[in-house]
Amino acid sequence: MKISGVILAAGKGTRMKSDLPKVLHSVLGKPMITYGQNAIKHLNNKYVVVGHQSDLVIKELANEFKPVIQEEQLGTGHAVLTLLNSNEFKNDDSDYIVIIPGDAPLLLKESIDTLISESTKRKVALGIITAEVTNPSGYGRIIKDGNTISKIVEEADSSEDEQKINEINSGMYCFNKNFLLENIKTLNSNNEQNEIYLTDLIEIAFQNKLDTVIVQVSEDTIKGVNSMSQLNEVETSLREELITSHMENGVYFQDPTSTYIDKGVVIKAGSRIMANTHLTGTTEIHDNCVVGPNTMINDSTIGEGSSVIFSVLDGVTIKGTGTIGPYAHLRRGSILEEGVKVGAFAETKNSNVGSGSKIPHLSYVGDADLEENVNFSAGSITVNYDGKNKHRTEIKKDAFVGSDVMLVAPVTVGEGAMIGAGSVITKDVPPKALGIERNQQKNIDGYMDRKKPKDEN
Ligand code: UD1
Ligand code: CA
Repeated sequence: MKISGVILAAGKGTRMKSDLPKVLHSVLGKPMITYGQNAIKHLNNKYVVVGHQSDLVIKELANEFKPVIQEEQLGTGHAVLTLLNSNEFKNDDSDYIVIIPGDAPLLLKESIDTLISESTKRKVALGIITAEVTNPSGYGRIIKDGNTISKIVEEADSSEDEQKINEINSGMYCFNKNFLLENIKTLNSNNEQNEIYLTDLIEIAFQNKLDTVIVQVSEDTIKGVNSMSQLNEVETSLREELITSHMENGVYFQDPTSTYIDKGVVIKAGSRIMANTHLTGTTEIHDNCVVGPNTMINDSTIGEGSSVIFSVLDGVTIKGTGTIGPYAHLRRGSILEEGVKVGAFAETKNSNVGSGSKIPHLSYVGDADLEENVNFSAGSITVNYDGKNKHRTEIKKDAFVGSDVMLVAPVTVGEGAMIGAGSVITKDVPPKALGIERNQQKNIDGYMDRKKPKDEN
């Protein structure tokens, strides 16, 4: 039995009141449409009906999902009709077609699999996933004749009595392909929304006395996202689930309600995630780290046993145990070896920092290579930009850069050299040398005594 899968994702998402196509809104750092793709990626042929800002949506599709463009969004039935008439669908060799909405990121692959097995086993015209919900408003209501589904009534077309029904349509179906091909053309838009409803096919099946099947699942796996508040509801529930699974793996969370973690972030056992921490992108936190409070880490790897407190890191690799913050800003291409310390109000970018090196306070290290055991004192910076080009600074091992030093790149500080505080270094400093660039200090004896007190003037 061959099964194709379709995601309906052409709608603008008017009720979101946002320019971004609805299915591209981020849910735990991934566009909403990713969740639908994951749930049906095991099916034989896969399609996505796109329309509103289709070029943006297509960029987020996995290779095996073929986009089909629905120029005008005339309703879910029209979206499926567009697919069936498309060139992309011409050679489709499936027996059944699973259809899911692009705006239901909580859906489970298991529900889809149950839907398929029930539908194909009983050779029905169509199977549908429904749920009993506490608040059915906004969803299509399931109307039954005994135990059989006889039709779906959309909220906009429903009577007061129908509105009380709390079994709703998830928008996930498994259709027999021939039933779909034979009947899709008969749908019309004689309804309150003047849309071609896919859901009208249910009544057609019932009237033709064709077999159907209902798979009921729990409310929290079918929620659709039509508004910003529903987006938040769905994301919150996925976040709770994600953090619980990290806890099960031995990660401590001080305050899950203020912790934001993208799907795909790795956190190893024994790590402690403190309040108000954001871990995003491809971030990996190795064993026994302390991260936060008040820390944002994006696309970074944090070595075992590190601590990162009150800091912002983006595109950083901490290979060993690092001590970061409070108030450090580590930017793209910062690579820290074992035992590096970057402290308060220090910033690094596109730099290698060797093991045991310290940048403890008020510094900028950009486009620099610091070897082992370099001390980069308070207030010192690499002057990496001449207004046109960026240049590198090389600081060899065991060098000591005093406070308030400007290293005007390109420049090299030799192994074991020392730079006097307050120097502007424009020439290379040889190994073991003292580089100093400073006017001699002048002391004026008795100066304060010679100054007349103010009121005698
Ligand atoms: C739909 C169902 C409703 C169900 C609910 C579940 C219909 C008529 N109604 O309502 O019974 O309870 O989903 O969440 O099907 N889309 C297109 N092209 C279009 C219109 C929509 O691709 O012309 C896509 C949308 O991008 C969206 C999905 O289809 O991903 C569902 O459309 P939406 O407008 O959200 O339908 P609902 O009103 O939620
Ligand atoms: Ca919807």
